[in-house]
Amino acid sequence: MIESLQKPLLKNTSAGQLNFISVNDVADIKGLVEKALAYKLDPFAERTLGADKRIGLLFLNPSLRTRLSTQVAANNLGMEAIVFNVDKEGWALEFEDGAIMSGSTVEHVKDAAPILGNYFDILCIRTFPSLKNREDDYSELVMNSFVQYAGVPIVSLESATLHPLQSLTDVITITETLKKNPIVGRRPKVVLTWAPHVKPLPQCVSNSFSQWINAWGEADFVITHPADYELSTAYTEGATITHNQQDALKDADFIYVKNWSTYHDYGKIYSNDPAWMLDEEKLKLTNNAKVMHCLPVRRNVELSDEVLDSPNSIVTQQAANRVWAAQAVLSELLMPR
Ligand code: CP
Repeated sequence: MIESLQKPLLKNTSAGQLNFISVNDVADIKGLVEKALAYKLDPFAERTLGADKRIGLLFLNPSLRTRLSTQVAANNLGMEAIVFNVDKEGWALEFEDGAIMSGSTVEHVKDAAPILGNYFDILCIRTFPSLKNREDDYSELVMNSFVQYAGVPIVSLESATLHPLQSLTDVITITETLKKNPIVGRRPKVVLTWAPHVKPLPQCVSNSFSQWINAWGEADFVITHPADYELSTAYTEGATITHNQQDALKDADFIYVKNWSTYHDYGKIYSNDPAWMLDEEKLKLTNNAKVMHCLPVRRNVELSDEVLDSPNSIVTQQAANRVWAAQAVLSELLMPR
């Protein structure tokens, strides 16, 4: 029995439902991290918790880690997991309220979501932003529509603005690394650094990482990026922000490397300066920092081969921990309360 199973680690919504779509759904971050680490030690500790329960994983976008780790986590809890690639195999969904559906969309989410809520005990959704209209993306229409209409707990497998299972994993990975190599007399320095990329990417991972590190409250948190790549202050409030990457990296214990496109002039690439790639020379500025990335990573664009293939890189450990993050969250949704 996992000890923390006794205490609710997620919060009920005002409608009395449990969801996992942001850090705001978590009652106890450290408790959730400890639960995930307990599952890592004993993956089948609760192998009947999800018996006779079914989880639906809906993908409107590609995935390797999120899809497979969530399936493995569900299986470890005894659930049946069914994956549906909505973008390739489903009817084109309409999300706009009052839409006159004379165009390319075939089925309204108001009709589809309650049906899925009947088929599944937990419904998980992955969607990406359009990166064309910030207000639309940041309204989280897709995720919120499923929350509104499905009638069962919703788990975000990444939304237009956030990636909470990734961020929980990131906090788990930092926590377990610190347990092995404790830092004495000060808080760890965690740096989120922008990196170049070949195409405009969402802000989700960076927003979410910032939101979770700030809510976790156990690190000195620095964000560094070129001018004009400011993230929404809704997520970064509490972090130190600098355009000087070298200053930011000084004495860092953890470096999180991630590209994102512009937030203010939405979805653009302004500068793609290759000098922002993390390489061995920059690693020398740090306190022998551990290097993190959510993956997939563009080698020798975002991060050099030398760094990714060095003992400083913990990206594989990080990706492996996706299972325990998902298992901790699903177990909370399955617990009879
Ligand atoms: N980090 C992450 O979400 O990976 P996938 O896109 O492969 O799921």
